[in-house]
Amino acid sequence: MAFLVNKKIKGREYFYLNENKRVDGKVKTKTLAYLGKIRKEAEKKAKEVLEKKQMKILDLVAGKTEGLEQTKISIDELATFCKRKGFVYPSSEIYGGLSGFYDYGHLGTLLKKNFENIWRKYFLSLSNNFFEIETSEIMPENVFVASGHLKNFADIAAKCKKGHIERADHLLERHLNKKFEGLNADELFDLIKENKIVCSVCKNSIEYVGLINMMFPVQIGVGSTTIAYLRPETAQGPYVNFKLQYELARNKLPLGLALIGKAYRNELSPKNILLRQRAFTQAELQIFFNPKKINEHENFNAIENFVLNVVLSDEREKGVQKIKCGELVKKVPQFYVYYMAKVQQFYLEILKFPEEKFRFFELNEREKAFYNKYHFDIEAELNELGWVEIGGVHYRTDHDLKGHQEVSKQNLSVLDEETRERFIPHVLELSFGVDRNFQTLLTFAYHYDKGRGNVILKLNPKLSPIKAAIFPIVKKPEFEKISEEVFNELKKEFNVAYDESGSIGRRYARNDESGTPFCITIDGDSTKNNDVTIRERDSGEQTRIKIKNLKECLRKAIDGENILKFGKIINTRKK
Ligand code: GAP
Repeated sequence: MAFLVNKKIKGREYFYLNENKRVDGKVKTKTLAYLGKIRKEAEKKAKEVLEKKQMKILDLVAGKTEGLEQTKISIDELATFCKRKGFVYPSSEIYGGLSGFYDYGHLGTLLKKNFENIWRKYFLSLSNNFFEIETSEIMPENVFVASGHLKNFADIAAKCKKGHIERADHLLERHLNKKFEGLNADELFDLIKENKIVCSVCKNSIEYVGLINMMFPVQIGVGSTTIAYLRPETAQGPYVNFKLQYELARNKLPLGLALIGKAYRNELSPKNILLRQRAFTQAELQIFFNPKKINEHENFNAIENFVLNVVLSDEREKGVQKIKCGELVKKVPQFYVYYMAKVQQFYLEILKFPEEKFRFFELNEREKAFYNKYHFDIEAELNELGWVEIGGVHYRTDHDLKGHQEVSKQNLSVLDEETRERFIPHVLELSFGVDRNFQTLLTFAYHYDKGRGNVILKLNPKLSPIKAAIFPIVKKPEFEKISEEVFNELKKEFNVAYDESGSIGRRYARNDESGTPFCITIDGDSTKNNDVTIRERDSGEQTRIKIKNLKECLRKAIDGENILKFGKIINTRKK
């Protein structure tokens, strides 16, 4: 692995291209070239050196001091890491895989479930009238006539002479290095012709640019003519369930219906591991409310001074602005702003995203989804990919319920208790791509530690697939007996692993890479004192804790307290 580092010597910066290689099981660092004092030139020179050596540029880390750098993992390297550790890998690989489909392995499944549970707990607790439901993944055609997906849910495809198909905006994006969202088919075709862009596969000219519907049709029953579709978003489940759930919630608004489940889209160009797949998981909360109350929220006072990271559609040149909720309500309704604050708090306070890597990005009239009146994407900055949409806050008005009322002929209106008028509730949707969030969490957590010579996955312990690994220091019956007892006791409450193979260093490394926050070692002193050594993943520091206090300490440490404070620190060396 090659990487760029800058060393600070007497206040001046000097750039070097270094390489890490594993020799006899140990990682050794070698300097490949001195790159000068100017970062831009250093990056250029690094690429030249690597090209000459026919090496891949896996990451270029600059602006950090050697030894402390956070590794900017490339997308290819992340894919390799995810497979090597059992997070995610291409589906049906023994048959060559199927583009746009991924499987979650033993660690990935746990991390994904942890994310979903944290999401569930946080968003459902925002109101006593928010509930989770689970609905069918296959829905009849009329659902999508009503929602508008049959007519409008299409990608603009560019087709070449030989029939290769690619998303027209992606084709332009790759050649011209900028985004082309919101343009129609004619405009995209004109740009393709103007810039003489040809097919990426066969280099033939592009002959056609037009709409292709992204839904997967499904045939129900044998020889049946019933047409149905795999749902392209989870949202339609709550909409078709609204009438019944509203009655079950004793006719009370706002009503929240949350759903975590699969959505299916026949994407033209799946790419970037989990970011653009054909089957993916969404976590969505549909909040049904009275549109007359869009400019109020009973708890708004609590977040009035909360500052949001926002890019406004008519002020994009200003970049990310820090805007107080109390200010933003001059442009965006209060009910909407309240939930933007709750979303940002979820990312920064619960998931602990770095603040500068999180923002809301407002879409303009042309870019908004066909069903939205207000539309802010939730974005995270992912290394070489730049800002990536990981969710959205969508004001869908009565678009969906009105459509379902018309097509189903069911009355979906409700009674306004104050005015005694009937109205169709409006919907504010908080939409999250679980897989995109999963990939973001891994990207942010990935650190390569040169001192240790291994990756440390610095996941928030709440998200870590395995909370603690338990090892006997060496394979001796007296240590193994206590280790097994500790393991059996802890596994009643936590997801823990038992690991006795390889040196203690190797076991630490393996668990660092899995994101396990605590390693518990049973040694000679444990037999005398009924205690264990706990090593904290990120600092490498260790403390001794009585076995009888272990559960309580772990509980608190997973909740965010520093485990080292529960015992006497016995080793301040970084290890
Ligand atoms: N119900 C609203 C809705 O579906 P969307 O912006 O189309 O809105 C919501 O999708 C989220 O689902 C996105 O922000 C993204 O995180 C995720 N998502 C969409 N398409 C995806 C795909 N092909 N692969 C992975 N995630 C996807």
